Amino acid sequence: MDEKEMSEPPQWLHVGITYNLKKSNRDEEWDGQSTSIEPAAVDNEAEYDDITTIMAIKEALESYNCRVTLLEVDKELPVKLVEHKPDIIFNIAEGIHGRGREAQVPALLNFYKIPYTGSDETTLCIALDKALTKRILSTYHIKTPKDRVIAKDQSQLTGRFPFPAIVKPNAEGSSKGISDVAIVTNRRELQELVSKDIGLYKQDMLVEEYISGREFTVGIFGNGRDVHVFPPMEIGYINQDKQYNIYSYNVKQNYKEFIRYECPANISKDIETEMINTARKIFEILSCKDFARIDFRLSPEGKLYFIEINPLPGLAPGYSDFPMIAEFNGMDYNSLVWNVLKSALKRYGMKSYID
Ligand SMILES: Nc1ncnc2c1ncn2[C@@H]1O[C@H](COP(=O)(O)OP(=O)(O)OP(=O)(O)O)[C@@H](O)[C@H]1O
Ligand SMILES: [Mg+2]
Repeated sequence: MDEKEMSEPPQWLHVGITYNLKKSNRDEEWDGQSTSIEPAAVDNEAEYDDITTIMAIKEALESYNCRVTLLEVDKELPVKLVEHKPDIIFNIAEGIHGRGREAQVPALLNFYKIPYTGSDETTLCIALDKALTKRILSTYHIKTPKDRVIAKDQSQLTGRFPFPAIVKPNAEGSSKGISDVAIVTNRRELQELVSKDIGLYKQDMLVEEYISGREFTVGIFGNGRDVHVFPPMEIGYINQDKQYNIYSYNVKQNYKEFIRYECPANISKDIETEMINTARKIFEILSCKDFARIDFRLSPEGKLYFIEINPLPGLAPGYSDFPMIAEFNGMDYNSLVWNVLKSALKRYGMKSYID
């Protein structure tokens, strides 16, 4: 062995990162043609990642001695996978089109029998459909706000519905489509907002009863007996005087101005236990893998409501809730990324890479 080889640490695990970057004219880039002639919503690319996040994940993996290949998700992905032959994929890709877009990469990786981090295509498909997820969880007696789906080709609310209500796209994340004016207090406002949002987001809208009260998010990593649930983090609204508080796209973008995060949240032991146990149960019911983040609201009467689950939670350092929760609990960014990968390695029986 020459001197150079001896001084370099062995890079023993080849990890590919699959991701989608924020960029305008995505449709043109994907298939060479533009499918959109209308101006996009301001939050059009909210769920896609910045290159800084991808580089942070890469550096985290390299700090654990992995060899890392960046695999941006486009139509060349199958070719790149065959060419680079990664041992495992760290997947944070949001996919390209359609209601099941988050499932596209996991489905492809299963097709090629390539191990990957995070939940499989079925879980990601279900979780991206908020109404469907709520329906499944209600059969397990998990409380969730009353809701109604307004189909994009129907755009009318039929029957009675309690107000105030919140209107959100049924299949989005990162508060895409949830602006500071997402709350409606009567049927006329609701119809106006639903029509506007269907025009912007071209999908079914979910109308939910607005749950006032405190908001929490719970981070989880691991699998089976190794599942670790972090203590709930409170999304505390600095301006408590406002009639409605929502963790909107604008609030997330400017969180330092609007939000005070607290983890562990200042709540009774009973509520904390209820939230942790409910989060763990949801993670299991939906067969989540490796990591997830679950949002709750606690009504002034003390009832805990499931709002939604993110089985592919954002990992933007200094911005996303999941790394923030880890940080509050003494787990730095690199360790968090490694713990997610380690959970996947264990699940696939690739234990020799861990010890
Ligand atoms: N039924 C509800 N009652 C009160 N507030 C709600 C309700 N549903 C959503 N919200 C508010 O809107 C925010 C965004 O909603 P939700 O979590 O469903 O969207 P998201 O875009 O999927 O979020 P994420 O960024 O976590 O993926 C919530 O964090 C909460 O503040
Ligand atoms: Mg949310």
